[in-house]
Amino acid sequence: MALNVVILAAGKGTRMKSDLPKVLHKVAERPMVQHVIDTARALGADKPQLVYGYGAGALQTAMGEQPLHWVLQAEQLGTGHAVAQAVPNITDDDTVLVLYGDVPLTRLETLQQLLVAKPANGLAVLTVNLANPTGYGRIMRENGHVVGIVEQKDATPEQLKINEVNSGIMALPGKQLKSWLAKLSNSNAQGEYYLTDIIAMAHSEGIDIATAQPQDPMEVEGANNRLQLAALERAYQLRQAEKLMLAGANLRDPARLDIRGTVEVGNDVMIDINVIFEGKVVLGKGVTVGANCILKDCTIGANTDIKPNSMIDNATVGSDCSVGPYARLRPESVMLDDSHVGNFVEMKKTTLGKGSKANHLTYLGDAVIGDKVNVGAGTITCNYDGANKFVTTIKNGAFIGSNSSLVAPVTVGVNATVGAGSVLTRDAADGELVVARAKQRHIEGWQRPLKIKK
Ligand code: UD1
Ligand code: CA
Repeated sequence: MALNVVILAAGKGTRMKSDLPKVLHKVAERPMVQHVIDTARALGADKPQLVYGYGAGALQTAMGEQPLHWVLQAEQLGTGHAVAQAVPNITDDDTVLVLYGDVPLTRLETLQQLLVAKPANGLAVLTVNLANPTGYGRIMRENGHVVGIVEQKDATPEQLKINEVNSGIMALPGKQLKSWLAKLSNSNAQGEYYLTDIIAMAHSEGIDIATAQPQDPMEVEGANNRLQLAALERAYQLRQAEKLMLAGANLRDPARLDIRGTVEVGNDVMIDINVIFEGKVVLGKGVTVGANCILKDCTIGANTDIKPNSMIDNATVGSDCSVGPYARLRPESVMLDDSHVGNFVEMKKTTLGKGSKANHLTYLGDAVIGDKVNVGAGTITCNYDGANKFVTTIKNGAFIGSNSSLVAPVTVGVNATVGAGSVLTRDAADGELVVARAKQRHIEGWQRPLKIKK
């Protein structure tokens, strides 16, 4: 048996009021359809079939080169018609799993349960019981057995009272599916070829129809408008937050955390409110992240303290470091263990050595800074001459006085001291004191001006 996943994604999604096809709207910065594709791959479907129609160009651009069978449904004539377009890629012994490009939160475990529930030659439908089932297809049962699905618009008042609804997600035997699809008609209230009509066909052929239920009804929710999209986003984020807490992180408020990528945490990580994680973030044990931080593609070592309102992008921070408040670590910044970067300090493509400190109002770009260096307040590495970038090297134990400009390329030697307010254009040798500023003058006999009389 081969698993053949068919993802329906042909609809425009008129109610989104968007130029973008519905399935490209994002949950956690990832298009909804990508969530579905990733789940399909996790199930073992290497090359899912993507049934597309509206917005083909945008969809192809967004999906890039990843392995997919692209299946065009030129006209949207119903879910049965959509699946029928995928038939050329379905072989008789396939198990076909139908998923929806706008239903991103279905758990892998739920789909595995559905596939386990599916009888060898039968089919399985993922259903959910809703207090308000309006709009959904209703699951019809006789003596407990599923005998069919009736759509809202075709249902009798009696059938409308059924609370068990069709999620749309089904696992079907390839061979029979092909014969059923060929027999679908569109003589119903919507004039569509309903995939759901194959349930009654299967039943009349004496084929077993099983059901499975998700843990959480949000797993089968789609987004037809931006309100529903926002609800999916919150549900997804809460799920991420719960995972993080179970992995050992303490969240001040699980409702005020956004993960748009992946986060790995060690024990006793503490995360304050309104933190955003993007890309791949790794937090060592005992790390604290203050309020309003944005951390993207970075690794933070054990017991490091990221203070509020800091931004870290593509950087590596060692253990026992202190960052912020209001620090900005730009790509290729490296802070070695025990180093400190304070408020309004920006680093780019710079390594700050062990135990070194840049505590206030500083720009460190294209710099290599050794261990136990003290970078005074207001220090600027002048790394750019308008055309090229140059490196500033500051060796172990050096002391840079406040408000210094280090005009690269320039080197400050081991244990050298740069006097405050210096504009350093030539290297400072090891152990040297360099003062590169205008000398202080004392003007004798000077008098303050007096107000001119009119
Ligand atoms: C469908 C089910 C209904 C179920 C509900 C769950 C049918 C006939 N009905 O109804 O039982 O309760 O989903 O949400 O299957 N699509 C295509 N091509 C088409 C038609 C649809 O790709 O020709 C895609 C749409 O983009 C959408 C999905 O399939 O993502 C569902 O289609 P829609 O017409 O919205 O079905 P529902 O009326 O919601
Ligand atoms: Ca729908």
